[in-house]
Amino acid sequence: MSASLATVSYIGATILFILSLGGLSNQETSRRGNLYGMIGMAIAVLATVFGPKVGSAGYVWIVGAMVIGASIGLYAARIVQMTQMPELVALMHSMVGLAAMLVGFATFIDPEAAKEFSGAAKSIHEMEIYIGILIGAITFSGSIIAFGKLSGRIGGNPMLLPGRHWMNLLGLLVVIWFGREFLHAPTIADAMAPVIVMTAIALLFGVHMVMAIGGADMPVVVSMLNSYSGWAAAATGFMLSNDLLIVIGALVGSSGAILSYIMCNAMNRSFISVIAGGFGTASAAPKPAGGAAEPAGEVTPVSAAETAELLREAKNVIIVPGYGMAVAQAQHTVYEITKHLREKGVNVRFGIHPVAGRMPGHMNVLLAEAKVPYDIVMEMDELNEDFPATDVAIVIGANDIVNPGAQDDPTSPIAGMPVLEVWKARTSIVMKRSMASGYAGVDNPLFYKDNNRMLFGDAKKMLDEVLVSLKT
Ligand code: TAP
Repeated sequence: MSASLATVSYIGATILFILSLGGLSNQETSRRGNLYGMIGMAIAVLATVFGPKVGSAGYVWIVGAMVIGASIGLYAARIVQMTQMPELVALMHSMVGLAAMLVGFATFIDPEAAKEFSGAAKSIHEMEIYIGILIGAITFSGSIIAFGKLSGRIGGNPMLLPGRHWMNLLGLLVVIWFGREFLHAPTIADAMAPVIVMTAIALLFGVHMVMAIGGADMPVVVSMLNSYSGWAAAATGFMLSNDLLIVIGALVGSSGAILSYIMCNAMNRSFISVIAGGFGTASAAPKPAGGAAEPAGEVTPVSAAETAELLREAKNVIIVPGYGMAVAQAQHTVYEITKHLREKGVNVRFGIHPVAGRMPGHMNVLLAEAKVPYDIVMEMDELNEDFPATDVAIVIGANDIVNPGAQDDPTSPIAGMPVLEVWKARTSIVMKRSMASGYAGVDNPLFYKDNNRMLFGDAKKMLDEVLVSLKT
């Protein structure tokens, strides 16, 4: 393939990626967005493999790598459960970081690559390598820890080392110092020690950064690592002088940064304070004497048949899904119930919290899979004011996102996080298996409210029973 054809293909792929991002910003166009992304990626891969930079001697390696990579990808996609998607995404981010690191080292030790540049261009190229390895290493180790936290292999509590901000600052200064050493090293061998020390510090920083973040703030970490993986890819593009990778990396990096900002807003957190760590733990804020807003009292259990009765009498119903709906795979039954109630003239809507589930848009994906019409799926801000005029609010496997303590208890680890105000409905029904807390590990005073009922059991099983009762 000629260089000009490769450039035209790259431009085509870039346009498709931009259209893809645009499509993914809305549920109705997200399928199309995915399709654009897939076509763009196919064009990008073909234009790179058959482009002017790859000689025919490289085909064996590339085809071999693609077969291995595609087989692993296909296998992972087939076996992954919907509830494991967040950790799979974290693992994929780690791969982008690892790739940036490896490409950085390969470019650095390749004597041919060094010969391409001289003077200022050489210094800039070396800086690209240093920064590329730095971002790649942070993304790699940070994403591995995020994978551990999301899959429950590592506890959700933040690890707060004494003097951690000073440690980070010291690490930064050492990285800058060794960057100077790296740039001034006369030979590749001399530059090796600084780059290895920097890589070790970057790996430790990635671990430390994510370990210091509490359970409730994980949504920001997920989107932040998404952003880092984009910048790592852009850095790889600079190292390989591949324009497409630079553009795509920048697109992913900036869209991830915007998503992190949205997540911070959704949780009423400042970005800097999340990165600094320490939120999302019961010890983050001292409890006043007397333990204000401590959940206390009795809960009122309800049966599936009673739930069906409450629904049958209702005119306005809001359903709030959470992570438990994903675990139980209850979305299809939820839609069956919704259809049944709508046929009877009940106004049923869904209230989606921005951090419900374990990844951005988690609930939207599940509801779209069950073919719930988009026009009854509302954002939290769109219907939070409607709860007082709602007869029944059903909470399906959600917990933190409906915790009134976030509003009432300034000592709560999730204080200040906007929540869906289900307790303002005439009756709220919480569907979960036990009194266990949610991801943030916080007790929920909602369960003890007078107008709240608890429907204990697996969400799918209980909803199946509700549906049967509704139909008979
Ligand atoms: P959670 O607060 O984690 O609550 C989920 C509840 O579902 C649990 O209390 C659990 O109670 C229940 N559950 C689990 N399996 C169930 C099943 N089979 N049937 C019925 N109930 C079941 O979830 P949420 O309300 O969706 O809030 C999300 C939380 O995750 C927030 O703290 C958020 O910060 C965090 N987080 C979000 C993200 C993103 S990007 N969305 C990423 C990482 C972390 P039982 O065990 O008693 O059943």
